[in-house]
Amino acid sequence: MVNEFQGKTALVTGASRGIGAAAAAALARAGCARVILHFGSSREGAEKAAEQVRAAGAEAVLIGGDLATETGIRNFVAALGDRARSIDFLVNNAGSLIQRGKLADMSYDLYNRVMDLNAKSVWFITQAVAPSMAARGCGVVVNVSSIAARHGGGLGATVYAASKAAVAAMTKGMAKELAPSGVRVNAISPGTVDNDFHAKFSTREILDGVVKATPQGRLSTNEDMAGVIVFLCSDAACNIIGQTIEINGGAFMV
Ligand SMILES: NC(=O)c1ccc[n+]([C@@H]2O[C@H](COP(=O)([O-])OP(=O)(O)OC[C@H]3O[C@@H](n4cnc5c(N)ncnc54)[C@H](OP(=O)(O)O)[C@@H]3O)[C@@H](O)[C@H]2O)c1
Repeated sequence: MVNEFQGKTALVTGASRGIGAAAAAALARAGCARVILHFGSSREGAEKAAEQVRAAGAEAVLIGGDLATETGIRNFVAALGDRARSIDFLVNNAGSLIQRGKLADMSYDLYNRVMDLNAKSVWFITQAVAPSMAARGCGVVVNVSSIAARHGGGLGATVYAASKAAVAAMTKGMAKELAPSGVRVNAISPGTVDNDFHAKFSTREILDGVVKATPQGRLSTNEDMAGVIVFLCSDAACNIIGQTIEINGGAFMV
């Protein structure tokens, strides 16, 4: 049976672990022929994720690149080269808090790195990929925002939260610009995902508090996020445009 993923190419940024690795594998299982896995510092992680992609029968292509600087973003777009013209599904997932920084101690350098990684990379990678989608009259972009965009983030995560609010706003603007050409742009907004991100930036005490305050009584998983990314890429989501979907077990309801 032919489905909308067959023969298609996906690019997932930040696919070396966490949500991105799960999304790359899920897109391969959905039927994509090729998944381009971007990684930052962890080629080893990307190789592991690529094994899952290949196990699902898809070709895996690995491209590295630091996206926390403008030069890094430009280099990644250059490394993508002509492959940018063959992408059907773009998942702008790479992102990080990088380091907590409150108002008093946030440096210009950290501010720029957080904004470049989480917001500027989304804009300029989409700028590289979307024109050929628009020329073909189809394609899907899924950005990754955050629950932090809604509530301002925890202590020391304000600039990260602002960068993710920028992603939600860009999602709407890009969606308006690209929908007439047949390209759909949406975002997911993860709540608290039980993965390396929080192993690095939260404590078990904080995470236990989130579980208690979550109607579903558990943290979210990488697979919870990947499932909605695949759904947004699918034809079942053909009328969903410019939305940011909150996925958090009911911890935050819009
Ligand atoms: N975990 C959560 O609870 C949560 C909640 C809301 C939103 N999010 C968002 O979800 C997305 C995926 O995060 P995750 O939870 O899967 O976290 P993760 O496990 O920390 O993975 C982050 C991914 O982004 C890549 N990355 C980080 N810094 C980079 C840089 N400077 N240049 C290029 N790539 C970089 C990492 O690549 P390397 O490891 O190869 O460097 C990795 O593949 C992020 O945008 C994050 O902000 C996560």
